[in-house]
Amino acid sequence: MASLSPPEEAAVSYHHRHSKRYPSNGVESVSDFAKRPKISPPPKQSSFISPSEIESEFSHHDPDFARVNNGSFGCCPSSILALQRDWQLRFLRQPDRFYFDELKPKISESRAVIKRLINAEHDDEVSIVDNATTAAAIVLQQTAWAFREGRFEKGDAVVMLHYAYGSVKKSVEAYVTRSGGQVIEVQLPFPVISADEIVTRFRNGLASGKTNGRRVRLALIDHVTSMPSVVIPIKELVKICREEGVDQVFVDAAHGIGCVDVDMKDIGADFYTSNLHKWFFAPPSVAFLYCKKSSNGGGGGDLHHPVVSNEYGNGLAVESSWVGTRDYSAQLVVPSILEFVNRFEGGIDGIKKRNHERVVEMGQMLVKSWGTQLGCPVEMCASMVMVGLPVCLGVGSDSDVMKLRTLLRERFSIEIPIYFRPPEEGEIDPIAGYVRISFQVYNKVEDYHRLRDAVNQLVREGFKCMSLDS
Ligand SMILES: Cc1ncc(COP(=O)(O)O)c(C=O)c1O
Repeated sequence: MASLSPPEEAAVSYHHRHSKRYPSNGVESVSDFAKRPKISPPPKQSSFISPSEIESEFSHHDPDFARVNNGSFGCCPSSILALQRDWQLRFLRQPDRFYFDELKPKISESRAVIKRLINAEHDDEVSIVDNATTAAAIVLQQTAWAFREGRFEKGDAVVMLHYAYGSVKKSVEAYVTRSGGQVIEVQLPFPVISADEIVTRFRNGLASGKTNGRRVRLALIDHVTSMPSVVIPIKELVKICREEGVDQVFVDAAHGIGCVDVDMKDIGADFYTSNLHKWFFAPPSVAFLYCKKSSNGGGGGDLHHPVVSNEYGNGLAVESSWVGTRDYSAQLVVPSILEFVNRFEGGIDGIKKRNHERVVEMGQMLVKSWGTQLGCPVEMCASMVMVGLPVCLGVGSDSDVMKLRTLLRERFSIEIPIYFRPPEEGEIDPIAGYVRISFQVYNKVEDYHRLRDAVNQLVREGFKCMSLDS
């Protein structure tokens, strides 16, 4: 993925906004807007963002907490929050002008930036939506209509991973199961030894979807699973889907852009969604849904936003750009975010690479101290890694991990999600609890040391999860 500059007349020039405030009425005239300087080229080595500037960008984070959970809600730098606030004020100052003159073209600029970042072919392949949950509803609603309108036969299959995200699974239940589709869940191993295991199990899942002459109408594949977190070999799985005659492939990459390589031509899926608020520094919440133009319904054809407005029927990208009166400011700062990431060496690719290296390093430091193991090979982690907890903590259920998570928050001021992996038959004392650590630009080694030391302290105290029952 290349580091790009946004289009010349990008919505708000990041550097410009930091050197000049708006006039006293707080709103620039349209002509001021056109006069703005062009986007500066990527910085030279000496002008990369400094550690103290990074600290200041995230100074709104609670300083008392070790926040090693970027994966759940992401983060947004204060300079972008300030720009978002400017957009909100522009709307509130003169809503009619904003609505008639600015909103649509500015959303189109954001879409153009995303299109270039993800190497899509056409502008109208990219729609901006709130989040991955909304994108899943759009794709699955289309699947439901195909069942209801008789284009898919009752019993045709939708194949997804057992580790698909909870709300996406609910969406499959709401749209596909209710419409008569058969849902096949591909069970994945954890810990994962190699990508081949996943490929083999996925092939088996497709085969069972095709038994008795049924067809697999949709494969829903995560790019990075949430819990446990593993990078899925999607390119290979998409290729297999094509060979096996699967109608459509939808990649749920809620942890996509800024976390893994996101290149639409390379991946080749029909639909691909990624949040921008997780690993691309957007304010909550903004995501894109890519719909391949050549695909059935792609590029907006038979896809519709679940919130119907007067834009219904004008193509998904346009439908998504107006879902009624609301705050669109998170979508409008996308070009400025690109400028923000370009202040780092290598832009978003550089950030992604360094986050990966650092999270692996931190994971290895923790397993060494706790005498445990990582949940998958390092090449299958992105900016998050699963780290086994000491067996003696006695993690034995989903409720244990919730309680342990709360304990780490309340007693040690650490934000960390934990996964319970039920023991398999015949296993004696396996590692049943795994923390999912993330690394983002604001993190410091001390955050992970605090986690390491907290867990070691619990071990020394002879702590057992069952002691939290009372
Ligand atoms: C794989 C996956 N899909 C979907 C989602 C939902 O994302 P959002 O809440 O932004 O819609 C998540 C959230 O973490 C996720 O990890």
